[in-house]
Amino acid sequence: MLDAKAYYQRLLEYEKEIRKVTDFVPEVAIVLGSGLGDFAKNLEVEAVIDYGDLEGFPVSTAPGHAGQYIFGTLNGVKMVCMKGRIHYYEGYDMSEVVLPLRLMRVLGAKTVIITNAVGCMNENFSVGSFMVSRDCIASFVPSPLIGPNIDEFGPRFPDMSEIYDRETIDKVLRIGRETGLEVHEGVFIQLTGPQYETASEIRMYKALGADCCGMSSAVEAITAAHMGMKVCGISCITNMCTGISKTKLSGEEVIEVGNRVSGDFEILIKELVRNL
Ligand code: HPA
Repeated sequence: MLDAKAYYQRLLEYEKEIRKVTDFVPEVAIVLGSGLGDFAKNLEVEAVIDYGDLEGFPVSTAPGHAGQYIFGTLNGVKMVCMKGRIHYYEGYDMSEVVLPLRLMRVLGAKTVIITNAVGCMNENFSVGSFMVSRDCIASFVPSPLIGPNIDEFGPRFPDMSEIYDRETIDKVLRIGRETGLEVHEGVFIQLTGPQYETASEIRMYKALGADCCGMSSAVEAITAAHMGMKVCGISCITNMCTGISKTKLSGEEVIEVGNRVSGDFEILIKELVRNL
């Protein structure tokens, strides 16, 4: 069973280690997904911490996911970027998957922008456009809150009726209109991966009400909401899902499209930070 006390102590130790390097207190955290890996270049950087410098910290093995916290300021907003996330398919327990996000809350962040690359099953949306999450389906992955509750973070049975902040969703949609970027609102479903979905699975997820799917993010949103953070989820649509896409899916294609639209993704996120 998860040793909740030891887990919490570990987070406080990591906080202490980071505080030896910087006293920077972020207001906003951002989890950088595929295509946004270079986002931190927009910051006036104050400090960089490699995950590898924190003893026992989970290290990302996914391509395009360097493991670093980057602290800095963007338009006067104090931010911490999580460059490199941990995925459940890498083999870590879910409590480890969400540990880097928990640490950003411990360091002071009260708002989190969770970004990712997604496949799309809503045929009204197109590749290269964006979706801001209205809600998510996480029933197909273990809850990140399983195990003894860490009371310091939040309640045993947290409410999820407003997991994503409505006001922030509206801001993202408005920024889409103002910038001319195609931004949709929809429901995100997290699956374990690492295999892409079958066509029958996609038909099922669509029938359940999902618009886009990915292999991360909903568990991070749940964890952040548990800790009382304001959560915003923004996805870059890199492909149509199996059965809808005319071509076979590959990780390379997802990264290639993610890189191609990274300029638009950066504009959207920069504008959001400016308007938070
Ligand atoms: N399925 C799951 N995760 C993804 C996809 C997909 O089609 N595209 C990008 N991440």
